[in-house]
Amino acid sequence: MLEKIQQTKAFLASKTQLKPKAGIVLGTGLGNLSTEIKIETAIPYEEIPNFPVSTVEGHSGKLLFGTLNGIPVVAMQGRFHYYEGYSLQECTFPIRVMKALGIEQLFLSNASGGVNANFEVGDIMLITDHINLLPDNPLRGKNISELGPRFPDMSEPYAKNLIASVKQIAKDNNIKIQEGVYAALSGPTFETPAEYKFIQIIGADAVGMSTVPEVIVARHMDIPCMALSIITDLGVDGKIIEISHEEVQQVAKAAEPKMTLIIKELLAKLHN
Ligand code: HPA
Repeated sequence: MLEKIQQTKAFLASKTQLKPKAGIVLGTGLGNLSTEIKIETAIPYEEIPNFPVSTVEGHSGKLLFGTLNGIPVVAMQGRFHYYEGYSLQECTFPIRVMKALGIEQLFLSNASGGVNANFEVGDIMLITDHINLLPDNPLRGKNISELGPRFPDMSEPYAKNLIASVKQIAKDNNIKIQEGVYAALSGPTFETPAEYKFIQIIGADAVGMSTVPEVIVARHMDIPCMALSIITDLGVDGKIIEISHEEVQQVAKAAEPKMTLIIKELLAKLHN
């Protein structure tokens, strides 16, 4: 693994001089942000040694190096999901590389189904904690002590200071923001009504199929994380309707400007 990380880092160094201060996973809801990044280099995943290749609809796969408001960033345009068939170690390899490139924070976004009765479709939820319901953990196997501890602390999966900053930014810009716990399931099926109920009972506010593996790996390496989720449908009793990937994308698209604004302001606050 260490060798692979160094190999990938050396390849990227041959493509760009940029030294990113922050890493961004442009999941659902942040696609628009890629148009705001002044891109210096965009590298398709299939050209990057040791990277898996993204397959899912609506996610193109490129690693972007550029500046956002003048701040150097590295961004994943499209992520790798467990349901695509990759191991969680493969899904999270890009986060390992981002750490080697020197990022100081990791920002992520996703789409999710809300199971909190106070949520509405189109809400943005600031993830304050998570529950890993994936049938694996990306840290299973031999620990690489150069990267992090065998038993990583998870008392602050999402950095408290970043949560506070995002809440302030939302307030200053009149953006409604919900807060809550995100549960990650493997997918690719959306949940049955009984599964939504189970997720709500165990203490989650939203459910999706991503983000948690990346955050686990980032925390293993002590990178502070911040994640936003767009509530694209509701798994709340009486409000459950048929959903499709297309509808999820559509709702997420509508929330993009707000998501983009939050990330830009947060970066400026941290790095200016
Ligand atoms: N469940 C799981 N993943 C999702 C959902 C959902 O309801 N909505 C968007 N991503």
